[in-house]
Amino acid sequence: MAKFLVQKSEPLTGEVTISGAKNAVLPIMAATLLTEEKCEIKDVPALRDVDVMCQLLESLGASVDKRLDENVVEIKAEGDIAFEAPFDLVKMMRASILVLGALLLRTGRAVIHLPGGCAIGKRPVELHLKGLKALGVNVDEEQLKRGIIDARADSLRGTTIYLDFPSVGATEVIIMAAALADGTTILENAAQEPEIVDLANFLNKMGARIKGAGTDTIKVDGVTSLKGVSHNVIPDRIEAGTFMVGAAMTRGNVLIKNVVPDHLKAVIAKLKECGASVEMGEDGIRVRGDEAEITSTDIKTLPYPGFPTDMQSPFMALLTVAKGPSVVIETVFENRFMHVGEFNRMGANIKVNGNCSIIPGGKSLKGAQVVATDLRAGAAVVLTGLVAEGTTEVSQIYHVDRGYEKFVEKLRALGANIMRVEE
Ligand code: EPZ
Repeated sequence: MAKFLVQKSEPLTGEVTISGAKNAVLPIMAATLLTEEKCEIKDVPALRDVDVMCQLLESLGASVDKRLDENVVEIKAEGDIAFEAPFDLVKMMRASILVLGALLLRTGRAVIHLPGGCAIGKRPVELHLKGLKALGVNVDEEQLKRGIIDARADSLRGTTIYLDFPSVGATEVIIMAAALADGTTILENAAQEPEIVDLANFLNKMGARIKGAGTDTIKVDGVTSLKGVSHNVIPDRIEAGTFMVGAAMTRGNVLIKNVVPDHLKAVIAKLKECGASVEMGEDGIRVRGDEAEITSTDIKTLPYPGFPTDMQSPFMALLTVAKGPSVVIETVFENRFMHVGEFNRMGANIKVNGNCSIIPGGKSLKGAQVVATDLRAGAAVVLTGLVAEGTTEVSQIYHVDRGYEKFVEKLRALGANIMRVEE
């Protein structure tokens, strides 16, 4: 198994170019099933999850030309498409559920064996199914008890759907299904993440009629067919936030390129509260941690536009060394403090009580053997490794490879002392 070896490093300096967003490209790739014509997707990050989604689409019968060295994937789902997603691929990537709506529209059926929970939570999909049933989809309840989604739909009819929680995946699955349903669908309490907007923009280019993406109410007027298009994926706001935090906590000075500041308002606000300087310029966002002391702040994760849950562990890395105590409350996932144990191996002395972590801060951390407990937590322990005395050895780094393209290369270009070793 590969590992990262991270040594205490100089402040990060220089510039880094952010890759395309993993959480935008995955639903967009799923949406290519909605047309028989070729779709060209650009600025695709070369990530493990993108590979898995390519394999999934190929297993369903789509032809996929994956040119990740050019960050391009071309997909053409022409002719017969299978309706069953292979379990060995679904268990590698929960986001496989994103093909559910498109499969139903394309084949009239979808069979997806649900993986169990993962490190950060149970990851139920009852909201996805609530929306699809409202559109006229029949779900086999006996199969569901065995963890298998076996759904059928002859035709879908638009309706009004309320989401009990603004689930990102449920919003994406429902608008994909509604795009080709008969009539109008109103989705209330929808997720507002930028990745939803990017998916809606892709679908509208294909000929869909979606309004309100990015707000809590999305209106979809069903159309009869969609065409193949070319699309550039938005930059990854979580990768950008990770490097911004790294610049601040190492007391560095880094220019983050290919980033949309609007997507990072909560993270920028919190970095400024901690004493970092964050300047928006023509060619990107410059983050500096070398002009003032980095001090503590409190974080509460919320659905967008609140502070993103995916930034919770990277930001906690900064709080372990910031001056003063911090409180972090995780409201989105029920078990997303697995990284606290890893920070504590390095001397962070964090206490957890339910969905609340107390970080005393001001620690001089020591390198240790740690584990990446999810993809964001893996990046977070690399960041603490950059400021900890000695060597930090990070294992289970396949998690990191799922969400960060060329992570080691980008960090080394900023002066980080990190290397990947194959055991
Ligand atoms: C997406 O996951 C992202 N993944 C996650 O990023 C991200 O953390 C999450 O949204 C929240 O922003 C992709 O886009 C591929 P949710 P998703 O449905 O769609 C509960 C990363 O690090 N819920 O908004 O699965 C659920 O249990 C990954 O890149 C229900 O209760 O997130 C969770 O507690 C990790 N019932 C909360 O909502 C449902 O039917 C948020 O889930 C659906 C969700």
